[in-house]
Amino acid sequence: MKSLVILISGRGSNMQALLESELSARVAAVISNNPHAAGLEIAKKHNIETCIVDHRMYQDRAEFDLLLANKIDSYQPYLVVLAGFMRVLGDSFINKYNGRLINIHPSLLPAFPGLGTHKQALEKGVKLHGCTVHFVTRKVDHGPIIIQAAVPVLPDDTAEILAERVLLQEHRILPEAVNLFMEGRLKITGNNVEICDNISDNSVLSKLEVYK
Ligand code: GRF
Repeated sequence: MKSLVILISGRGSNMQALLESELSARVAAVISNNPHAAGLEIAKKHNIETCIVDHRMYQDRAEFDLLLANKIDSYQPYLVVLAGFMRVLGDSFINKYNGRLINIHPSLLPAFPGLGTHKQALEKGVKLHGCTVHFVTRKVDHGPIIIQAAVPVLPDDTAEILAERVLLQEHRILPEAVNLFMEGRLKITGNNVEICDNISDNSVLSKLEVYK
């Protein structure tokens, strides 16, 4: 069975959703840049190997990225999932995992990249908000979109209430996207990701090469 590595920084609810879903993959490890991430305990309870690559221990981003990549590679994952991983990764790291690095973002991209998405959604008065699973490219929160889920923005919403509504959808679409990737059903053309009924692993990889 193919494996994946999950990167987290905090609470780890998206990671937990992955661990508690029927995945077509084995979770080889959970890695956190934050030694105090609550998600680490959840992973341990699921008997998943955990490790910490603390960004504060390294001189600069390049050194952190290198050590993180070494740790990831020690598990030889087919896919790397950013599930609430709050560090920006450098170009070399992203190039190295191009086409096999995905992220969950709490907005309907390309609206509201970056932080504070729920607050921004309320400030802008959008009627629909949501979440996106996308491939990671060098421009933060801009890679090809795999799946999105929309939720209504309701009159009495606070950023916290809206975040909870979106989070439920994050927990649904992240495992779905992982399974589509693992089953070789994502075909990338330009910035578009097509979900195919069935395609072979090789053709997936060759399509994903586009992003190298
Ligand atoms: C999620 O909303 C995720 O989309 C964002 O940060 C939050 C992390 O939550 N990047 P959790 O750690 O998965 O609970």
